[in-house]
This record gives sequence, C-alpha cells and structure tokens, in this order.
Amino acid sequence: MREGTIIKQMDLGGSRIVFRYPRWSDLPQYLKMHNEFYREQTMTCPQKLDRARGCRKLTGVLTEIETGQARWLFLEIDGKLRGEGFARKRGANYAVVGLALMQECRGLGLGEEMMLLLEDESRKLHRYRLYLEVWAANQPALSLYKKLEYKETGRKPDFMEKASGGFSDLIEMGKKIRRKAVK
Ligand SMILES: CC(C)(COP(=O)(O)OP(=O)(O)OC[C@H]1O[C@@H](n2cnc3c(N)ncnc32)[C@H](O)[C@@H]1OP(=O)(O)O)[C@@H](O)C(=O)NCCC(=O)NCCS
Repeated sequence: MREGTIIKQMDLGGSRIVFRYPRWSDLPQYLKMHNEFYREQTMTCPQKLDRARGCRKLTGVLTEIETGQARWLFLEIDGKLRGEGFARKRGANYAVVGLALMQECRGLGLGEEMMLLLEDESRKLHRYRLYLEVWAANQPALSLYKKLEYKETGRKPDFMEKASGGFSDLIEMGKKIRRKAVK
C-alpha cells in the first residue's frame, strides 16, 4: 500500500471527489477536520487534538496501514480533507468499520460510497465479517447502516448521555460481506 494512493475519484456537481489512502502531509488538514468533529461531538472524535496528539494519531493511522492491521480512507473534495473511514482487524476473523464526514458534505451519497469502499478494503484484509457501533440517537448513521444491510447484534441501553438531555442506547451491528475478487 502506498501513502496517498487513490482508490476512487469522480466528479459531483462540479467538485472533484477523491477517496484515497492517508499520507503524512495530511497532518494540518487532519487536525482541522478532527477538531471540527470534536466541536460537533461526533462519536468518532471524543478528544480535542493539539499538534502533538494529532501527530500521534496520524502516525497511528499510517502504522496500522503499514503493518496490515487496518485500511483507512480519506475523502478529499477539491483538494481539501473532508472525511475519513476505517476498517480495522479485530479478533481472528472480523473487522470494525467506522466513518465520519464533515457537515457540509453530508447527504450527497458520499457516506454510502465510503462504506462500500470500506467493505472492499475489508476484503483486502481478508475480513468478511464487519462490526460497528452506533448511538441510537444518530439517525443518519443508523439509517445508512440499515440501508447497507447491517443488522443489530446487541445493544447497551442508555449508554450515552445526550447533550440535549436524556440517554441513548449504543447499538452494535454486524454484516457478512461476500468474498469477491480484490481489485
Ligand atoms: C453518518 C454519515 C457518515 C452519513 O453520511 P452521508 O454522506 O451524509 O450519507 P449519504 O448521503 O451517503 O446517505 C446514505 C443513506 O444514509 C441515510 N441518511 C443520510 N443522511 C440522513 C439523514 N439526515 N437522516 C436520515 N437518514 C440519513 C439514508 O438512509 C441515506 O440513503 P438515502 O439517500 O437513499 O435516503 C454522516 O452523516 C456523518 O459523517 N455523520 C457524522 C459522523 C458520524 O455520525 N459517524 C458515524 C458514527 S457511528
């Protein structure tokens, strides 16, 4: 795997959309994106990143890829980092998947595209059982996963206190994907 390798690119409404592997030079935009996720309190980014933390986190991403523990995809729109997703090996035979897109590029079909690409990346890791966790209160993510035929496999009731008050369940979901030829 080479840093920055483009996995898929397309045009959407005049914008250039690129899904690619991360690279070290992503650091400044990576920090910006994560701190945006942190500000929004998405599940994927519970911690504010200063430069040192960001360096450690991106190093971790690149190390996981290099050692074959995971595949990460970055979403770039017109040259700007706008989202990320991962498929990480867990246990002997499954992978955990997850993703987050910046607010302004949601609802355009890119989350769905990213999930399908992550399924392909899981195949490259020879993992055909996928697993994820999602807050019951996160309707967009829950709908996306259901659309892609992830099924609920477990639930931790009232696991998260919502900023708006009350609690939300943590839902565990899984899916078996077909083994098809790796591109
Ligand atoms: C969840 C997320 C990745 C979805 O990505 P997206 O690009 O907005 O989704 P898409 O445009 O590809 O939509 C695909 C499907 O997701 C569902 N969906 C997307 N936005 C939705 C919304 N606002 N309300 C309900 N369902 C929604 C729909 O089922 C949609 O299919 P449809 O267009 O046929 O109705 C995105 O909202 C996000 O990054 N959220 C913040 C981070 C996060 O919550 N990550 C998941 C943690 S578990």
